Amino acid sequence: MSVAKSLPHDSARLHVTGGARYTDDIPCPANTAHLAFGLSTRAHAEITAMDLSAVRAAPGVIAVLTAADMPFANDASPSAHDEPVLAEGVVHYHGQPIFLVVAESHLAARKAARLGRIDYAERPAILTIDAALAAGSLFEGGPVVWSRGDAGTALAGAAHLAEGEFEIGGQEHFYLESQAALALPLDQGVEIKCSSQHPSEIQHKVAEALGLGLHDVRVEMRRMGGGFGGKESQGNHLAIACAVAARATGRPCKMRYDRDDDMVITGKRHDFRIRYRLGCDAEGRLVGADFVQMARCGWSMDLSLPVCDRAMLHADSSYFVPAMRIESHRLRTNTQSATAFRGFGGPQGLLGMERAMDHLAHVAGIDPLELRQRNFYAPPAEGALPRRGEASAPRDISGKMKPQETHYGQPVEDCVLDALVARLEASAEYRARKAAVAEWNAAHRTLKRGIALSPVKFGISFTLTHLNQAGALVQLYTDGTVLMNHGGTEMGQGLHQKLAQVASEVFAIGPEAVRVSATDTSKVPNTSATAASSGADLNGMAVKNACLAIRARLTEFAAHRGGCPAEAVVFEAGEVRAGTRVWRFSNLVAEAYQARISLSSNGFYATPKIEWDRVAGRGRPFFYFAYGAAVTEVVIDTLTGENRILRADILHDAGASLNPALDVGQIEGGYVQGAGWLTTEELVWDEQGRLRSHAPSTYKIPATSDAPEVFNVSLWDEPNREDTIYRSKAVGEPPFLLGISAWLALSEACAACGPHYPDLRAPATPEAVLAAVHRARGDAA
Ligand code: MTE
Ligand code: MOS
Repeated sequence: MSVAKSLPHDSARLHVTGGARYTDDIPCPANTAHLAFGLSTRAHAEITAMDLSAVRAAPGVIAVLTAADMPFANDASPSAHDEPVLAEGVVHYHGQPIFLVVAESHLAARKAARLGRIDYAERPAILTIDAALAAGSLFEGGPVVWSRGDAGTALAGAAHLAEGEFEIGGQEHFYLESQAALALPLDQGVEIKCSSQHPSEIQHKVAEALGLGLHDVRVEMRRMGGGFGGKESQGNHLAIACAVAARATGRPCKMRYDRDDDMVITGKRHDFRIRYRLGCDAEGRLVGADFVQMARCGWSMDLSLPVCDRAMLHADSSYFVPAMRIESHRLRTNTQSATAFRGFGGPQGLLGMERAMDHLAHVAGIDPLELRQRNFYAPPAEGALPRRGEASAPRDISGKMKPQETHYGQPVEDCVLDALVARLEASAEYRARKAAVAEWNAAHRTLKRGIALSPVKFGISFTLTHLNQAGALVQLYTDGTVLMNHGGTEMGQGLHQKLAQVASEVFAIGPEAVRVSATDTSKVPNTSATAASSGADLNGMAVKNACLAIRARLTEFAAHRGGCPAEAVVFEAGEVRAGTRVWRFSNLVAEAYQARISLSSNGFYATPKIEWDRVAGRGRPFFYFAYGAAVTEVVIDTLTGENRILRADILHDAGASLNPALDVGQIEGGYVQGAGWLTTEELVWDEQGRLRSHAPSTYKIPATSDAPEVFNVSLWDEPNREDTIYRSKAVGEPPFLLGISAWLALSEACAACGPHYPDLRAPATPEAVLAAVHRARGDAA
């Protein structure tokens, strides 16, 4: 048995010894050239003149390319063909690439890139949400609205109502390995090696840029030093630049962004403003919700539409709200094009509801956990108890309990939150600690504590339905070892290890006999990005299907040799038994080879059951939901706003985990990254639209020392109700949203300072906490 084991990451040893090769570490031919972009120094302007003579004359420069030198398409966009690789006459943000330097070394290219002299005629720049709203600058021509029932009427009749508006900051991915690509010219076409979650898209964009068929572009991707969504589309520029420069010079070309350039050029998490109205009846049952979500999308479309859709899809968080209306503004601004980031809009949408719940609990004088528990989606029908305050749960005509539907019409059939939260509440001793915090706060003037529990319900599947497919190629060699390729990419999450375990399970051989090779568009074609947390779900099934196809051939062969029916053939512990015969797995494979049996197969998988109409906002976009909950306790200093996370307790649903150790790692990392987003990580642009926080000196990601001192993580070990790979659940993104509990705990700590709602913004930096403390007290601003 290999599945469900806590085996280490397949590259763990290489990671810690420094032996793991990333794109920049790949030995490249001696004549490799190095690239750098010359960047815009205006947020919005027409380029009236460009003098690149000093760039061309700089030491080591081989060539300088502009938009006019792009041989075919000049486009890096993953969606709307609206994102030139090199600016065409107009620049749309401060940091936009304008020209490309090809030089003998990385440093020579970067130095020369600074020497461009560009004259601009400035245009008005739209930098903020307010400016975009005022100018009506948005994608899709207007806001997107989805609704169920009549939220306005429901809210008018609510016994308690919370109403407000708050800001949610963006987030820099800060993958440890910055963006990188390498292009090797071939006699026909080009080969790309890069750090990308989406090799097939790199292949498409490079083919468009060179006017080649997809069969002439091969993209290989061994591993990323983190992606977090930032390498879904943001690596396109580098790969295209390398390919175009390789074509122009006939030399291999390599490009990597220095950290500052990476932060200045690439897109980040969308920052949001959310206006909310949330109401409940006298018993604390939600009656209606109305959200206006305003997202700053930056200058090009990139993935903003599906990101904003996902924010709308998660606006209910974990609660059944009978009447709901959501209005989503996708604002176009002269800033970096905001992009995918772990959770893909889900965290922002969910935070809107959790904030509104926090506010409503304050207004209604109900314990926040109590309010949440009263409103969780009902648990699965069988054995379900009536909701609190309800005589009986709603039933259909056959008398079966009817699952509640989300605001977009998907029945919630798998909600485990009642039981999961009850267990966490007990193990984290939430009630006792809540009382202890109140006591502690009564006794302390300067320091205040807060504790909060927040749930997560995260929808699993790409909302663009056709992306929910995957392929794999499994090859068995005559010594019984397995080499495997699948459409997914490895970014540290442990996908390859999990899928090696799947293959080892099917063949009943040790995982050390299975090797997963680099992701390669020439082995498995037409892949989706490794994203939406569905890497293991999709590729795991494709791998399993490929392995099953080979195993079926081996089974038939063994049955024939052993003189028994195929059903009687057993694969177990490295052996195969059939009738009178017993083989070591490798011996059977060698015999099968002699008998001319094919030992390789591809496999395919497409997620069943999903359908989605994004315009109407109705359907079943998700195969299932992943759940979890976290309790966080914090302390704040009311004089300075400084704060710390003291303890976090997490119970998370990874279904029947494929690898508990890797899943716990994902949960710990996700929580800390989520808490970082909402506490210390702050992006600052100045009035000229320059990103001022573009290095670790000015942008604070959490360090190990910022992780909670007490950090208890457990898995909710119940198999997925849907037929996923060994009944596991996707785990990449959902735990990120658990970090919201840290922010809610900070809000609680601020609320302990006075009678008013503290109206905390995100991120809750010390300045923000201090302002919230003053608001709680009612101090004049
Ligand atoms: N974990 C590590 N270590 N590094 C990463 O870049 N990316 C996250 C998550 N966990 C990431 C990570 C994101 S944004 C996604 S969508 C998933 O991993 C993708 O991998 P999966 O689908 O295999 O879970
Ligand atoms: Mo993850 S944001 O879906 O790459």
